[in-house]
Amino acid sequence: MPHVLVKLSTQLLAKSNVDFMNIASRANSNFWSNVQMGPPDVILGVTEAFKKDKSPKKVNLGVGAYRDDNNKPYILPSVRQAEEIIFKKCLNHEYAPIGGDATYANLVAKLGLGDNSLAIKEKRNVTIQTLSGTGALRVGFEFIANHYSHSKEIWLPAPTWGNHPQICNMLRIPHKKYRYYDPRTHGFDLQGCCEDICSIPPGSIILLHACAHNPTGVDPKPEEWQTLSEVIKEKKLLPFFDMAYQGFATGNVDNDAFAVRLFEKDGHQLMLAQSFAKNMGLYGERVGALSFVCADQDTAANIMSQVKILIRTLYSNPAINGSRIVTEILSNPELRAQWLCDVKEMADRIINMRKKLREGIERRGNKLKWQHITDQIGMFCYTGLKPDQVARITKDFHIYLTKDGRISVAGISSSNVDYVAEAIHKVTSS
Ligand SMILES: Cc1ncc(COP(=O)(O)O)c(C=O)c1O
Repeated sequence: MPHVLVKLSTQLLAKSNVDFMNIASRANSNFWSNVQMGPPDVILGVTEAFKKDKSPKKVNLGVGAYRDDNNKPYILPSVRQAEEIIFKKCLNHEYAPIGGDATYANLVAKLGLGDNSLAIKEKRNVTIQTLSGTGALRVGFEFIANHYSHSKEIWLPAPTWGNHPQICNMLRIPHKKYRYYDPRTHGFDLQGCCEDICSIPPGSIILLHACAHNPTGVDPKPEEWQTLSEVIKEKKLLPFFDMAYQGFATGNVDNDAFAVRLFEKDGHQLMLAQSFAKNMGLYGERVGALSFVCADQDTAANIMSQVKILIRTLYSNPAINGSRIVTEILSNPELRAQWLCDVKEMADRIINMRKKLREGIERRGNKLKWQHITDQIGMFCYTGLKPDQVARITKDFHIYLTKDGRISVAGISSSNVDYVAEAIHKVTSS
């Protein structure tokens, strides 16, 4: 073999030995070898599968984001105007205070608790800006884990939004379920709910969806909220309201805050998570709020001091752009009026699609009852489709939804409502 080839093959041999040794030593020193592949997010996984589908007929009813009648993301006119006003102000990009801007906090506290809130008047509330609704829940639950001296059990409605138990698990907070949805009536199970609440240990936390319950679209009626308020008070539980859809249920932000305001009026101390993702379409801006309604001003001051310490270690202080938009809209009377119309328009479109979907299924002579489609409220409808029917509607009709049969009515439009009705009719009749 010529000398040059001998030299090259010796070099290659040496190199492959080095490669092998490198791989071997890397394997030995893999600091993360214990990390197992986690399951994909149930809801975001549906969107991933939808994106891969090449069919022109495909419909995504999985995602909980509003779409207009052309199935496009919607930028609210009030938000557009607010952005223009803010742009012209040439504001700087300094850090926000740890709990966010105080003007923002006051405005959103009033939006949630109401202009006549006694807690706000008596300065017994703590309100801070958070990274949308999820951030509010996370900071709230972390606060419970660190500072709540009573039973740390969190009681969640059955079913609930998947992230509720997940956040509890992440923080190792025990969580349990109380009865909420009755599959036989597709409605609220008041009796089961009250029976379960009566067995919850005093001092525990009860999570309540303030309106437009996700995933069922089933809300208690005003008189049922009244009963819940009484039972929860008698059992000395701490209500934690998750209000991610204020305005989306009835089209009116005051109506949708009924439960929160009732509980405050009834003298509950409570916690409240708010989100502007849905009702202002500010999904990616991550703007929300966490409030505590406390027994007195001193407690509120103590909580504020500790919540700031907690936030400082998590993300230091919140982002400024989203809160500027919310502040502009809520503080400018014209923009506020426009926003209330925008919210109503979104809610009305959803209500209209519910009607059309129900009519479409019934018109085809389907034997099952579909009244729950129009009885339920907000972005989601718990159709009652079984997992095998969900699998079929996805396979045969390219319609994507979560396995529990939940559909986002926001994904339905004038152009696909008939197709969806036909598909639901077919999978429930054969
Ligand atoms: C019940 C419920 N809570 C909270 C959230 C929080 O959403 P975000 O973090 O986008 O504000 C959502 C979003 O889907 C929700 O459905």
